[in-house]
Amino acid sequence: MKGKFITLEGIEGSGKSTNLESIKSVLDQKKIEYVITREPGGGPLGSHLRKLLLDKEHSISPSVEMLLMMADRKDHVDNLINPNLNKGICVISDRYLDSTIAYQGGGRQLDADLINSLSVTLKLPTPDLTLLFDLPVDVALQRAAERSELDRFEREPKDFHSRIRDSYLELASNNHRIKTVDSSKDTKLVSKQVEKYLSEFLNA
Ligand code: TYD
Repeated sequence: MKGKFITLEGIEGSGKSTNLESIKSVLDQKKIEYVITREPGGGPLGSHLRKLLLDKEHSISPSVEMLLMMADRKDHVDNLINPNLNKGICVISDRYLDSTIAYQGGGRQLDADLINSLSVTLKLPTPDLTLLFDLPVDVALQRAAERSELDRFEREPKDFHSRIRDSYLELASNNHRIKTVDSSKDTKLVSKQVEKYLSEFLNA
């Protein structure tokens, strides 16, 4: 049987990575074998592409940025995601295709249909479950600023991040696989929501 494909999504500072621990503990309890990965940068070409994409010294046009994200993803899918899913291993990816729809589609205002049709052409698998970590943009950006030096995306104005949040919420309202976690809540409550969604999904 194929492994389950689970993705984590959200705006900057939304707490995706912090909640990986709750996810790991649910999978460990259920003795499910998994790998944890991330985008951009999860495939063999990843470290080069990630550096290019996040470096604040580069100025990249929206369509080139989108194509680089898709190239990074195809490399990741072919070399890590699909081989593991085919071996029955669960794959957890910190960001995936919904990030391109939200950031390059919503944020950079590129045509979402183009992104979707590219993903079909590239035969990118659809996640089985996506956890969307959602909270108000002001709170999230404050958290991201406290965390570390800002990268090329985090430096964008508030409007950009608001459009990304709106795109994510629209995706969630149209796709049953996306479960929205209210990450403005206290960390314990956030991990409870994560554990609930994950257990419901694994028990279904
Ligand atoms: P990262 O340092 O991994 O940040 P985060 O903790 O927020 O995931 O940076 C990844 C950045 O790349 C993040 O700002 C979102 C952006 N991104 C896109 O714009 N499009 C994409 O398709 C992906 C995967 C990421």
